[in-house]
Amino acid sequence: MITKPKGCHDIYGTEAKKWQYVNQVIEAMMEKYHYDYLRTPIFESSELFHRGVGEGTDIVTKETYDFKDRGKRDMTLRPEGTAGVVRWYVENKMYGGSCQPVKVYYHGTMYRYERPQSGRDRELTQFGVEVLGSDDPIVDCEVISIPVNLFRLLGLKEIKVNINSLGDKESRDRYREALVSYFTPHIHELCEDCRERLHKNPLRILDCKVDKENDILKNAPKTLDYLNETSKKRFDQVLTYLGAMGIPYEIDTRLVRGLDYYNHTVFEIEAKVEGFGAQNVLCGGGRYNGLVQELDGPETPGMGFALGMGRLMMALDKENISLPIKDHVELFILYVNEEEKCYAMYLAQELRMNGFIVETEYQGRGLKGQFKQADRLHAKYLLLLNSEDLKENLVTIKNNETKEEDKIDLDYLIYYLDEHLESEDSFHLGHDGEEMFLEEEVEEEEE
Ligand code: HAM
Repeated sequence: MITKPKGCHDIYGTEAKKWQYVNQVIEAMMEKYHYDYLRTPIFESSELFHRGVGEGTDIVTKETYDFKDRGKRDMTLRPEGTAGVVRWYVENKMYGGSCQPVKVYYHGTMYRYERPQSGRDRELTQFGVEVLGSDDPIVDCEVISIPVNLFRLLGLKEIKVNINSLGDKESRDRYREALVSYFTPHIHELCEDCRERLHKNPLRILDCKVDKENDILKNAPKTLDYLNETSKKRFDQVLTYLGAMGIPYEIDTRLVRGLDYYNHTVFEIEAKVEGFGAQNVLCGGGRYNGLVQELDGPETPGMGFALGMGRLMMALDKENISLPIKDHVELFILYVNEEEKCYAMYLAQELRMNGFIVETEYQGRGLKGQFKQADRLHAKYLLLLNSEDLKENLVTIKNNETKEEDKIDLDYLIYYLDEHLESEDSFHLGHDGEEMFLEEEVEEEEE
C-alpha cells in the first residue's frame, strides 16, 4: 500500500469543512481590510530563497525541497510566501504604481523538510499578508491586528501576542556584534548548532530550542538596549498604536524570528491553551525593509505575517470551539424506476443550481435503503418521485424530522423549499455595537 509522505495530511469531510469555513472568514476579513489576493507559484528558482530567506537560516540550509527541472534549472518548493511575493512585486515593477502601499494576501501550501511532529509538518498551509511601500508604524499595527481579529472572530481566547524590535540596520549590526562578543567565551557550553550560528547568524542562538533554558541565553544582551534613537522612537509608536487599537501584547526581548530578512518590528502569536504542545506559535511576522532591494528592486519597506493553518485548526479544537459548518443535506430525492431516475437527475440539477444542497440515490438501493441513506446524511426533506404523480406534475415532499408530508405542484417546488428551508448560505462581517462578529443571515421563515 502506498502511504502519504511523512509530515503531510489528507484533509477530508468535517475537518475539510472547518478549513473551508475558516478560509471563508479570512476572505471576508481581507475584503474589509482591502487587501488583494495574490497567487504565486509553488516552486520558484532556488536563488530566490537563498537570497530572500537567507543563507544562514535553518529553512534554507536544512529544510528546502530542491530539485533540478528537466531543463537543469535549480528549483525549490517554496518554504514560505514572502520571498515569492517580493519577487512578484519587483518583477512587475509594482513599486512604480501610484497606489502605494501595495497590500496583498495569500494562502497555500509551503514545504519544509522538518522533523515531523504535532504542529510541525513538511507540507504546511499558510495564510499570510504583505504590505509593500510604507514604513509607517500604523502598517505594522494593521498587520498585527489581522491575525488578532481573525482569532477573535473565530472565538479563540487563549492567545498571547509577543512583540520585539530588532531596530534598523545600524541597531541590528550593533546588536549582532554585542551577541558575538557575549557568546564567544561561552560557546563551548552551547549546542553544536549554536556553535555554527555564532558567526553565521548569532541572533538565532536566542531562539535555540536545545539551549532555551540555559542561563547563558537568558542573560544575553537584549535587542532593545541596542536600538538607536530613531528605532526606539519607532518601536514606541508601534506600541502606542497597538494600545489605541486595543490589542494587548507582551514585549519579548528574545524574540528574533528564524528568517534573515527582518528589522524593526517582529511579532509572534502563541496559543496558550493547555495540551497544545511545543509547536504553539500560530503565526509570526515582522518588518523587512531591506528585502525588496536584496531581490533587485529599489529600496522599499515591507511588513507582513504568515499563519500556520494546521496549528490554527488545532487551537480551535483544543479550545473546543465549534464552527458553524454546514454538514447536512437539504433534500434527498428518492426514485424507483428508470423514468423517475431520469427525472431525479433533472430535478437534482435544477435544485442545486437554485442553491439547494441535494443528494440522490447512486447505489441502486430499494426505497427502504434510500430512506436509510437519507437518514445517514441527515437530509431535512425527502422528495418522493412517483411516475403516476409526475404525469400530473406532482411530487410528494416529506419533512424528514416531523414526517409531515405535502403533495405539491412541481412548478411550486422552489417556492415551497424557499419557504420551508432556512437559508444559511451567506454570512458577512457585521458590526453590532462594540464587537465585530460573524453574522449569519437567516431568512425568517414565513408561517
Ligand atoms: P514562519 O514563522 O516561518 O514565518 O512561519 C509562519 C507560521 O507558519 C508559523 O508561526 C507556524 O504557525 C507556521 N509554520 C511554520 N513552519 C511550520 C511547519 N513546519 N508546520 C506547521 N506550521 C508551520 C514565515 O513563514 C514568514 N514568511 C512570515 C512573514 C510574512 N514575515 C513577513 N511576512
